Amino acid sequence: MSATRSQPVPLSRIGVVGGGFMGAGIAESAAVAGIGVDLVDVDDSALARSRERIEASLAKAVARGKLDDAEAVLARIDFAAGLDGLGRAELVIEAVPEVAELKRDVFAAISARVDEEVVIASNTSSIPIAELAGATSNPDRVCGLHFFSPVPVMKLVEVVVALDTSEATEAQAYALAAQMGKQPIRTKDRSGFVVNMLLIPYLMAAIRMLEEGFASREDIDTGMRLGCGHPMGPLTLCDMIGLDVLYAVGTSLFDEFKRDEYAPPPLLKRMLAANRLGRKSGRGFYEYEPAPAG
Ligand code: CAA
Repeated sequence: MSATRSQPVPLSRIGVVGGGFMGAGIAESAAVAGIGVDLVDVDDSALARSRERIEASLAKAVARGKLDDAEAVLARIDFAAGLDGLGRAELVIEAVPEVAELKRDVFAAISARVDEEVVIASNTSSIPIAELAGATSNPDRVCGLHFFSPVPVMKLVEVVVALDTSEATEAQAYALAAQMGKQPIRTKDRSGFVVNMLLIPYLMAAIRMLEEGFASREDIDTGMRLGCGHPMGPLTLCDMIGLDVLYAVGTSLFDEFKRDEYAPPPLLKRMLAANRLGRKSGRGFYEYEPAPAG
């Protein structure tokens, strides 16, 4: 059965390239929905970290009464080092670090390993999908599938439709999102898509507010939690997203639209220089227990 015909059928197996925070979450969500996953990363130690992440999240889902059988979910995920592990995938989602050259290389390599009609999607939050599509043999089967963190909990997926994305590819992306229990929304291939275009100016404004000494980190966060009902304050959210990711997305939005509201403030740049990357490095705007590397 073709994965890209205009009436897409449910998928039985997908590939996920990159098992970091986002890739592991995508693999977990697909496996929870009954879909087999080939999760590939560069080497065995990266895969071991990825498995640990998924095991921890599944244990949390069981503890919260959201899931019965974590073992059955884990058994649906095959962990493989190297892209040759993608042979059986009916659709592939790329979730490697947010570096344009790396993503282009990965797209070219995936395209060389899967059938012409297999949809290849990127979880990028800032790199143009058209640029990644250009690295493949068949750009009409490329789109964005942008998930939100933490993936197992957040319901939204942005389906990014680039210049050459076909209707069949878009339909397949929508169908997969629904199969995974997510709500898809459609967005053009513009930096920031829908959500980050709105979210990033807010987060950058919170950082500038702290930088200017206008209010404390706690008061800024408490203000938005209790004043506006947000589940977490903006600085806590920055730490969860990762300050390196935030910097990359803000820079990309600024490059695209040249509007000051997107520009990362100097404090954010200095925090990266000091390796204060947020929760994943143990320190960002707040301090955390050390997280597993990668
Ligand atoms: N699997 C399944 N469900 C889980 C789970 C898991 N591993 N862990 C938690 N849950 C469920 C819980 O059961 C609970 O469900 P109910 O509400 O039905 O009871 C819900 O998720 C919330 O869980 P917790 O009570 O443990 O956690 P919390 O209340 O502290 O919320 C949070 C944690 C979901 C992260 C919340 O703080 C939140 O929504 N924060 C905002 C997250 C956000 O804005 N994300 C977007 C980031 S931007 C982005 O990702 C895009 C980008 O490109 C930068």
